[in-house]
Amino acid sequence: MSEMRRLLRALAEGDEPSEVWDYFARPPVLETPRLIIRPAKMRDAEDVFRYASDPEVARYVLWTPHRTPADSRSFIRSLQRQYRASQPSSCLCVLRETGAAVGSIGFTSYQHDILTAEVGYSFARPLWNRGLATEALAAFLELCFDRMRLHRVEAVHDTDNPASGRVLAHCGMKPEGVIRQRVFNKGQWRDVQLWSLLSEEYETMRRR
Ligand SMILES: CC(C)(COP(=O)(O)OP(=O)(O)OC[C@H]1O[C@@H](n2cnc3c(N)ncnc32)[C@H](O)[C@@H]1OP(=O)(O)O)[C@@H](O)C(=O)NCCC(=O)NCCS
Repeated sequence: MSEMRRLLRALAEGDEPSEVWDYFARPPVLETPRLIIRPAKMRDAEDVFRYASDPEVARYVLWTPHRTPADSRSFIRSLQRQYRASQPSSCLCVLRETGAAVGSIGFTSYQHDILTAEVGYSFARPLWNRGLATEALAAFLELCFDRMRLHRVEAVHDTDNPASGRVLAHCGMKPEGVIRQRVFNKGQWRDVQLWSLLSEEYETMRRR
């Protein structure tokens, strides 16, 4: 490649983060047919409260239902602190049709030496079973593998929460087995199902 072309390409790529940490610091906006997935803003607090105060949404996740809008504001502040510190974090899923934040998706952990991240998500109950989580996860996996160049993406879900497993299966993730009493959640030891997808499997899937 000529020096000029290399320079033009570097200039064109100027806006794209180059390191995993840059993606944590400046999560890119992801667009899907029905969603815009973007960093959380304080003005989203009311929307977040609407779904995150629902005990059914919080039932199998590690956070407790938000009791007041102040809990949602403090959740958004903690996400923003994570962006500033380049730490794994979540973004909000905004429904294009209404402009409301109706869920979240993001990294629950990241191990740099093995380029492995864990993903988690939740959506407002009135919107369940319309394929929104599947749509969000597909876009998120594209970010993980195509842009961030991760090697492995993992997810776990409570064995009593099979809907989450359906989402992971739809996106090509592979079940690896049950990890017994891996989580202490809401006063109980819980078994979780572990899922993963490797970069080579993602590439094969894309070529199909
Ligand atoms: C899990 C969750 C994110 C799924 O979101 P969603 O937008 O409804 O997901 P999708 O519509 O893309 O897919 C849901 C799938 O689960 C299936 N499903 C729903 N309830 C189910 C149940 N009780 N048992 C088995 N499958 C179920 C649906 O039929 C669908 O599968 P299908 O497309 O093969 O029919 C949503 O239920 C949620 O936010 N739950 C609370 C938070 C949570 O548990 N997050 C996951 C933590 S690991």
